Amino acid sequence: MISSPLDIPAAPLLEQYGEEARLCSSANDQLTLVFSQRHPFDLVELEQLLEAVGWSRRPVRRVRKALANSLLTVGLWRHDPRIPRLVGFARCTGDGVFEATVWDVAVHPLYQGSGLGSQLMVYVLEALEAMGTERVSLFADPGVVNFYQRQGWELEPQQHRCAFWYAS
Ligand SMILES: CC(C)(COP(=O)(O)OP(=O)(O)OC[C@H]1O[C@@H](n2cnc3c(N)ncnc32)[C@H](O)[C@@H]1OP(=O)(O)O)[C@@H](O)C(=O)NCCC(=O)NCCS
Repeated sequence: MISSPLDIPAAPLLEQYGEEARLCSSANDQLTLVFSQRHPFDLVELEQLLEAVGWSRRPVRRVRKALANSLLTVGLWRHDPRIPRLVGFARCTGDGVFEATVWDVAVHPLYQGSGLGSQLMVYVLEALEAMGTERVSLFADPGVVNFYQRQGWELEPQQHRCAFWYAS
């Protein structure tokens, strides 16, 4: 059971970002950062974020479908009443009961290193837990394994049990 350190925003923000919105704390008092499952994504902005962390751009049409088929999509928004900016993202696939898998965890480089990524993972796990998900998995890039381990994720014990199939 996760006990959330994430605060619930005031009513106008809940209206803008949805009932499940939570505040993300930051060292900069001038910033209001909000996690949301409801605020719609500009897919070009999303791909720009993922490109900024070093990932290849994907066709917007396919990204739209992937998001629509996801169990959970979370945006971390730099709040603005008119034009919020997407500074972080994560999504999960799964059945919402037994299994979920986390994908595309990213915090914009300008915002990295101040606890946003950890809070993003807390938010994601809390949302999955609220759905009743029993087990969550992810595939960490080699350089990021520590980031997850520090948060209590366990490495797959035998390290050879994952299997992949790729469409040719
Ligand atoms: C991984 C990522 C989401 C972390 O976001 P962040 O906001 O910088 O993370 P935090 O500031 O919450 O860092 C939490 C801790 O993890 C550590 N950490 C952060 N990024 C790390 C990395 N790439 N490798 C190892 N440790 C990392 C931090 O040093 C910090 O340690 P501390 O608690 O001792 O200070 C972000 O670096 C990112 O978007 N990276 C590029 C995309 C990526 O690799 N995503 C993961 C795919 S599996």
